[in-house]
Parts: sequence; structure tokens; C-alpha cells
Amino acid sequence: MPIHTMRAIRLHEHGGPEVLRDEEVPIPEPGPGEVLVRVHAVGVNPPDWYLRDGYTTMPGEPDATVSLPVIPGTDVSGVVEAVASDVEDFSVGDEVFGLLRFPSFDGRAYAEYVAAPASHLARKPAGIDHVHAAGAPMAGLTAWQFLIEVGHDRPSPFQEARHRPTALDADTTVLVNGAAGGVGHFALQLAKWKGARVIAVASGAHESFLNELGADEFIDYTKSRPEELVHDVDLVLDTVGGPDSKLFLRTLKRGGALFPVFPAEFDDEETSKLDVTVSIAQVRSNGAQLAELGRLLDAGTVRVAIDSTFSLADARAAHERAARGHIQGKIVLTVA
Ligand SMILES: NC(=O)c1ccc[n+]([C@@H]2O[C@H](COP(=O)([O-])OP(=O)(O)OC[C@H]3O[C@@H](n4cnc5c(N)ncnc54)[C@H](OP(=O)(O)O)[C@@H]3O)[C@@H](O)[C@H]2O)c1
Repeated sequence: MPIHTMRAIRLHEHGGPEVLRDEEVPIPEPGPGEVLVRVHAVGVNPPDWYLRDGYTTMPGEPDATVSLPVIPGTDVSGVVEAVASDVEDFSVGDEVFGLLRFPSFDGRAYAEYVAAPASHLARKPAGIDHVHAAGAPMAGLTAWQFLIEVGHDRPSPFQEARHRPTALDADTTVLVNGAAGGVGHFALQLAKWKGARVIAVASGAHESFLNELGADEFIDYTKSRPEELVHDVDLVLDTVGGPDSKLFLRTLKRGGALFPVFPAEFDDEETSKLDVTVSIAQVRSNGAQLAELGRLLDAGTVRVAIDSTFSLADARAAHERAARGHIQGKIVLTVA
């Protein structure tokens, strides 16, 4: 007899990690343009706990509000189980990974199966396993869209101007703040891939990890203030963002750029006096870009670091781990 239900983590209310409930729910049907993915691993990302905490609408996306109960999660790696009749790019049995329906809180990835838009998926790199592949989509695409190519012409919800990556080569120096985290460790590696010199800022426990990933210089922000040590950099990618982001303005050369990955307030008068650009993008699902990143993952040019893994049923423990901070790479849920 066919099985019609699956295990999934759902939220019936907002709150702390304890509101993540392991339940039996119907297996979704893929709609037009979608495939059904048998999920092997799920990457955990900050929007998963923003949704858990009570956010239901992404900035600039009022039409994509989700209501409870909801299955959180956006990053998956798995195997195609069924394909809608209008999907040509994937077949049953293909190994795939993707960032689903972002920006929205409607990824529905914390589950044994997920209906996934085919355009949000790419073939999983054969050289890495599902756990590592599931760690790549949101953080990897964020680094890609900030540093390499935006890949779409949708306006940013955070600014009027279109985000433009800075050209990176052997003559550029990039400072990555929060370099050990999900976005930071991909940003460091992509900047190195482009030939740039990279200064990595993180807490001291991450020094050898970041040196292994190729950092040219390491600053432990618990011991020194980067803005007092660093001058004349071309680009700061600040994955921490928030009120302290503006301290990095003084590390930039004239004509340089600051990309806060988490929104922050800036004084236009100050930035124009310093002759620097501040720009923030919103990551979007993009299977084609993920395929490009996948080639770098397959070649070992970029690697996914795994902070920790938890079973899907133990999603609560994964969120508790995230809340303790100091994440090195990605937290991933494994699905039996
Ligand atoms: N704009 C977008 O589209 C977009 C996309 C993805 C993510 N985001 C946002 O970007 C942020 C980072 O996401 P993520 O997935 O990379 O998070 P993450 O994996 O939790 O990484 C955050 C990293 O920052 C480090 N950190 C914390 N405080 C720091 C400080 N004061 N100075 C330097 N480093 C510090 C942490 O470790 P240590 O403190 O031990 O160094 C950790 O490694 C989140 O706020 C997320 O919401 C935005």
C-alpha cells in the first residue's frame, strides 16, 4: 500500500526552540513547475529561527506571508521522487540541492519530502554528500549574489540602487567580518577564488579553520578592534551587520564598498564624504547560480564546513545549538 504521510517539523505557534514539533503530515503533491524531493539533509539558516520567533513576511515580499501551522526551512539536498508534467530539467532519481522559495518563509524543507520549484534546484555535486550539499544553498548563494553576480533584476527591499558586486582580483583586499559563519566562510572562499587578499575577522577559536580556508590575515575581534588595525581595503563584507557595521567605514579606501549582509543604518553624508558605497542585497533562490557554485564544490575549490548535525526529529536541539552562537560553517539536519 502506498505511504501518503511523512514526518515533518511544524510550528503551530511562535516561540523558542520548544515550539518545533515533530509530526506526521501528508506528503505534498508537486504543483506545476515543481518536483517532489525525498529529503536527505536540511541546512539550518537564520530565517528558520526568525520564522520560529514570529516573523512571517520577508522584507519587500508582502504577498508571500505564511500562516500557522507551517513547516520551516529553505535549504535541502535529496533525490527527485516525482516530477510535474511540465518539468523537463530533472528526472526521477536525480540528486538535487536547492534554496526553496526565498525570499519567503514558505520553503517547507524540515520534512522527509518537499515539493520544490525546479528552477530553485541544481544537481547535487557528485563529489560531496547530502549533508554538505544541504549546507550550501542559502549561505553560498548569499555570498555569490553579494560578491560575484546578483543574478536577477528585482529591486532590493533595503535600498533604491541595484546592488553591484565589486570587481575582485589579485589587487583587491577584502575584509570578511563573521568569516567563520555560514555566509562568511563561503564569502572568504569565493573572494580567494577570484584572487583577492582576504582578511578574516572572527572569534579566536576559528583562527586555524579560517587559515585553512585561505585567509591571508586573521583578526580576533575579541582581542582587537579591526577598524583600528585595518586601512585601505577595497571591500568589507560584514555578515554581522547591525549598529556596529558603520565602524568598518573607516577601514575602506576612497572608492571602496561596504556590504552589510544584515541591514544596518548609515549616514549618507558620512559615506559620501568618505567616497565609499554601502550596498545590501536580498538573496533569492536561483538554481542556475547554484549549479555554478556546485561546480566549485565538486572541484574542491570551495568547501562546505559542517558545524554540527542533528536528526530531523531533533530540530529543537539544532536551534538550541544555533542560539549559542559562534557557528563554524553550517548546522545541518539529517533525514533518515
Ligand atoms: N541579506 C541577505 O539576503 C542575507 C542572506 C543570508 C543571511 N543574512 C543574514 O546574515 C547574517 C549571517 O548569517 P549566517 O548564516 O552567516 O550566520 P551564522 O552562520 O550564524 O554566522 C554568524 C557568524 O558571525 C560570527 N560573529 C558573531 N558576532 C560577531 C562579531 N561581533 N564580530 C565578528 N563575528 C561575529 C559568529 O562566530 P564568532 O563570533 O565565533 O566569530 C558566526 O560564525 C544573519 O543575520 C542573517 O540573517 C542575510
